[in-house]
Amino acid sequence: MARETGKQRSQRIEIDAYRKRTDIHVWRTACILLGLIAAGLYAAYVIASGDGSQVSTGPVAEAHAAFENDCQQCHQDFTPIGSRGSELNWSLVGLSKAKSVEHTEAACKACHDVGDHYRGKMSEVWQLQDQNCATCHADHQGRNHDLAAVSQSQCTDCHARLADGCTGTPAVRDSITGFDENSHGKFASLTTGDPGSVKFDHQQHMRLGQVDEGTKGAFRLDMMNSANRERYRLDGQADTDLVQLACSSCHQMAGNPDPSSNLITDGELGRYIEPISFEQHCSACHSMNPGIATADTTPLPHAASWSQIDLLLNASLVGSRVTKESRVPRNDSRATAVPGEGFGDSSNAITLPDPGDLQQARQRVEAECQKCHEPEHITDKFIAKAAAGDAAPLIPPRWFQHGLYDHAAHRQIDCTFCHSAAYPASDAASGPPLDHQQVMIDNIESCTGCHRDAESPTPASLTSQDVVGQLGGMSTWATNNCTLCHRYHAPTTLKEEGAK
Ligand code: HEC
Ligand code: HEC
Ligand code: HEC
Ligand code: HEC
Ligand code: HEC
Ligand code: HEC
Ligand code: HEC
Ligand code: HEC
Ligand code: HEC
Ligand code: HEC
Repeated sequence: MARETGKQRSQRIEIDAYRKRTDIHVWRTACILLGLIAAGLYAAYVIASGDGSQVSTGPVAEAHAAFENDCQQCHQDFTPIGSRGSELNWSLVGLSKAKSVEHTEAACKACHDVGDHYRGKMSEVWQLQDQNCATCHADHQGRNHDLAAVSQSQCTDCHARLADGCTGTPAVRDSITGFDENSHGKFASLTTGDPGSVKFDHQQHMRLGQVDEGTKGAFRLDMMNSANRERYRLDGQADTDLVQLACSSCHQMAGNPDPSSNLITDGELGRYIEPISFEQHCSACHSMNPGIATADTTPLPHAASWSQIDLLLNASLVGSRVTKESRVPRNDSRATAVPGEGFGDSSNAITLPDPGDLQQARQRVEAECQKCHEPEHITDKFIAKAAAGDAAPLIPPRWFQHGLYDHAAHRQIDCTFCHSAAYPASDAASGPPLDHQQVMIDNIESCTGCHRDAESPTPASLTSQDVVGQLGGMSTWATNNCTLCHRYHAPTTLKEEGAK
């Protein structure tokens, strides 16, 4: 075939072809118009119908799904929200970061009455961060997104360098970036000593009969009131056997209705240990009447006003004469009176007891109180204050001020794993000081073995045979996310009227 020459080609192609309108042009114009009309109609539909889901960036979380399409619950026109949107600060077009964040907080707080996070101690930049709910609770991440799952970096963002954003010197450790002794630091509340003031010796009380080895005076079941015996009797013990206490004789998880079972029915129940009470935990063996409690003791009331005690002592002294129970004191020993064992001649006619007798009886009771108490805690003034609930408890009910430990969640673990100091030492001679002078709670090292990074292997401290026994099958890994043990907000309540 002959090749086409340049001339032939120029005759075949029209030079002004591009100027002519063809079908293609018509179609193109039609398509553009159609597109514009469709978009306009769609926009008109979206605006007219108010169906905001059409412009949403994704489904909102389950908890918010009920009002998902009522965008104005959270949004306001020309007010971007979220971690990125609220960074826009273009005053020319009316965008202000501070206003965006303010709106976000107000919108969320219309339904959520959450407390802030030490905002009073923050610089302005940090205050905005605390106000910006959407940084930590981004929405439109899908139905199943957990709104409350906040990543560690949201906390360490500030806590790695607290001094930089605090208005004053931080009251807590300046830099916390993780959860081990170096990156988090020890639990400060356990390093300032034991604030308790009731004298008590765990090692002694955990021995058979509550006496140190080789000491007389061991306590038998038949020495206590029969009503109390079953509570302290171990399987197969006879009345003449010595009492053996367990930790649970005095420490029970709060709210656990049945101390013999591990069943905790509510997440909050059992988180803490019930406070010690004299009546429940000491009175079976100790009385205010001089001497240990026995089956025959008529107990004087604990922590009652002294006028009440005096009345009872007087009644007792008089009563013992009336019933002719009082004996003439033996010449030798006892210089002081004991209720039921009064002074004076029982053959005498009833006379008021000698004020000296009363005073002596009272001194012996005071001496009993002081086996457990400091003198300033048995004054009438303190007793009245305690009765009114105005006195600080003599035994601290809680230790941590800034973090959380949950006894119920760890109930499989033997108490000795964290409280070995409460058990009798094999070497009795090197006994510790009284326990109210000593903290018997191990510090952060008792947690970091299990609460560690997911990738790190189980430490050797948790794999030895006797430790495995103490763990009772508890999993040896758990998260070290800050929010496991710390709350960001002050207590929350959902405002009734706002929720739909
Ligand atoms: C429960 C509150 C809530 C509702 C209801 C809600 N949003 Fe949002 N929206 C948010 C949050 C929070 C963000 C920030 C998300 C982020 O930072 O990733 C956001 C971000 C957006 C963004 C990204 C731009 C911006 O403002 O930062 C768009 C667009 C958006 N939402 C549209 C909608 C539309 C449309 C609706 C209604 C169908 C809607 N949203 C309903 C909470 C909500
Ligand atoms: C119209 C009321 C309303 C508004 C506005 C609202 N929420 Fe909620 N939010 C709810 C309800 C209802 C729940 C479910 C409560 C529940 O389950 O106890 C909820 C749950 C939550 C939860 C807890 C989810 C969980 O798993 O426990 C978080 C966090 C939350 N909202 C954050 C926000 C944020 C941030 C905003 C603002 C962007 C916001 N909410 C706006 C009503 C609202
Ligand atoms: C915007 C900065 C900022 C962020 C983000 C932040 N914090 Fe804080 N945090 C502070 C400031 C400021 C204090 C108060 C320091 C003081 O008392 O001097 C504080 C105090 C604390 C305390 C000690 C006081 C107490 O008893 O609660 C804990 C614990 C804590 N934050 C945990 C967290 C956790 C967990 C997160 C992440 C969910 C977090 N913080 C996120 C600034 C921040
Ligand atoms: C007879 C009652 C009694 C028994 C049994 C008993 N405790 Fe205590 N426990 C107390 C009293 C009273 C206190 C408060 C004394 C104080 O301030 O230290 C206390 C305090 C504690 C504390 C608080 C920390 C501290 O340093 O004060 C721990 C932990 C503790 N006991 C663990 C145990 C363990 C573990 C056992 C079992 C081995 C046990 N207790 C058995 C009465 C008892
Ligand atoms: C065997 C030890 C023991 C003896 C003896 C004892 N107490 Fe107590 N006392 C305790 C314990 C344990 C507590 C703390 C638990 C409680 O409040 O029941 C306590 C608490 C108190 C409180 C504070 C009560 C409160 O509500 O906070 C007062 C006041 C008090 N005792 C006074 C006395 C007086 C007065 C005596 C002598 C008549 C006395 N105690 C004898 C162990 C003892
Ligand atoms: C099972 C009986 C039993 C229980 C329960 C018990 N104790 Fe004791 N306690 C004894 C015995 C026995 C002694 C040694 C005899 C003695 O010194 O009176 C003793 C001694 C003491 C002493 C030393 C007394 C002294 O002479 O200096 C104190 C203090 C004490 N107990 C406090 C308490 C407190 C506080 C509780 C309650 C939380 C308690 N005990 C519960 C049996 C018990
Ligand atoms: C397994 C539990 C746990 C984890 C995980 C944890 N903490 Fe703590 N944190 C505690 C306890 C317990 C305390 C001590 C409370 C006390 O002494 O009163 C504490 C104390 C603090 C304090 C106060 C320190 C001081 O000087 O008094 C801050 C702030 C804090 N933690 C922040 C964090 C941050 C941020 C993270 C995450 C990087 C984190 N914590 C992870 C349990 C934990
Ligand atoms: C994994 C460590 C661990 C184990 C296991 C453990 N505790 Fe504790 N215990 C703690 C810590 C941490 C505290 C301080 C918590 C607080 O007061 O906020 C504490 C506090 C206590 C207190 C003081 C009162 C209170 O609630 O703060 C008593 C009493 C106590 N524990 C008894 C026991 C008994 C009884 C057992 C065994 C059933 C036990 N603990 C097991 C770590 C442990
Ligand atoms: C033997 C491993 C082990 C040790 C030791 C341990 N934990 Fe845990 N911890 C766990 C496991 C596993 C869970 C999850 C249990 C669950 O949710 O049922 C957990 C859960 C928790 C929780 C959440 C409980 C709740 O109420 O949701 C806190 C807070 C906590 N641990 C703090 C501590 C602190 C503080 C210590 C040290 C005093 C500690 N843990 C020691 C294994 C351990
Ligand atoms: C620095 C991160 C952070 C910021 C900012 C933040 N939150 Fe939270 N929020 C958390 C964490 C962590 C939780 C999990 C429970 C806790 O720690 O109190 C939570 C829980 C919640 C819950 C569920 C409460 C509950 O008890 O289940 C609501 C509702 C909530 N936040 C609302 C808000 C609102 C409204 C704002 C803005 C004013 C806001 N949050 C700002 C971290 C944050």
